[in-house]
Amino acid sequence: MSDTAQNDILLQLEGVNKWFGKIHCLQDINFSARRAETIGLVGDNGAGKSTLIKIISGYHHADSGSFFWEGKKVNVTCPRDARALGVETVYQDQALAPHLSIARNIFMGREPSGGGGFLKEKLMAEESLKALSNLGLNVKSSETPVMKLSGGERQGVAIARAIHFEAKLVILDEPTNALSVKEVHEVLEFVRQMKRKNLSVILISHNLHHVYSVADRIVVISHGKVLTDVKTSETSVDHLSDMIVSGTLGKVV
Ligand SMILES: Nc1ncnc2c1ncn2[C@@H]1O[C@H](COP(=O)(O)OP(=O)(O)O)[C@@H](O)[C@H]1O
Ligand SMILES: [Mg+2]
Repeated sequence: MSDTAQNDILLQLEGVNKWFGKIHCLQDINFSARRAETIGLVGDNGAGKSTLIKIISGYHHADSGSFFWEGKKVNVTCPRDARALGVETVYQDQALAPHLSIARNIFMGREPSGGGGFLKEKLMAEESLKALSNLGLNVKSSETPVMKLSGGERQGVAIARAIHFEAKLVILDEPTNALSVKEVHEVLEFVRQMKRKNLSVILISHNLHHVYSVADRIVVISHGKVLTDVKTSETSVDHLSDMIVSGTLGKVV
């Protein structure tokens, strides 16, 4: 690999193993993410996708293997460690507080320090609108309670919260679940927008069309192993689907 390509790598996992009791959930996983790269992570239920991203986001610790960040070996033992590196995760059961405003939700648990109450409110309002418009989402007021938003807009708030705090890598675990067609388009547009902002994104979805339409590269996990790691342009939705169903590389496209 050339030096430039090497420098481009943000995250690299090598030989990661994870056991849950007798279940060998992740088996010698190698996984990498380049800067500004959108990676689709797909595989059948129980394949190990969420466990893999929980290792990246510090919720689980691998039983063995190495974790490199910007070329340096790091030890990620808790979510705070991962956040400090610039990893932000938006979970499928994203915990937004429905009665609180957009601004409160974006800043939840990370309100700016110092300054008076009024100044703080103003700052949070301005920053929230900016964070949303960076995603291409324009809302009338950052004071709107989240429960008044559509499902797609709620995902936008969750993603804006993730990227507002200097994330370099944003992980989305099934963000298009239970959304309308229009909302799915909104969320996929957020993903494209993140790429334009040079953020790396890992997108997990069981909908291969969604992944295929935004990812630069697709990694298929099957029974805890990487079955293939392929450029999107070198595969097809049908081929991905065959691989997931059969658990083998299947026919060549
Ligand atoms: N906390 C846990 N304790 C025990 N087993 C788990 C735990 N989390 C996941 N598993 C098991 O690990 C395997 C992979 O799960 P998961 O990573 O959630 O898969 P996916 O996200 O691809 O559907 C499954 O067999 C699941 O039951
Ligand atoms: Mg999962």
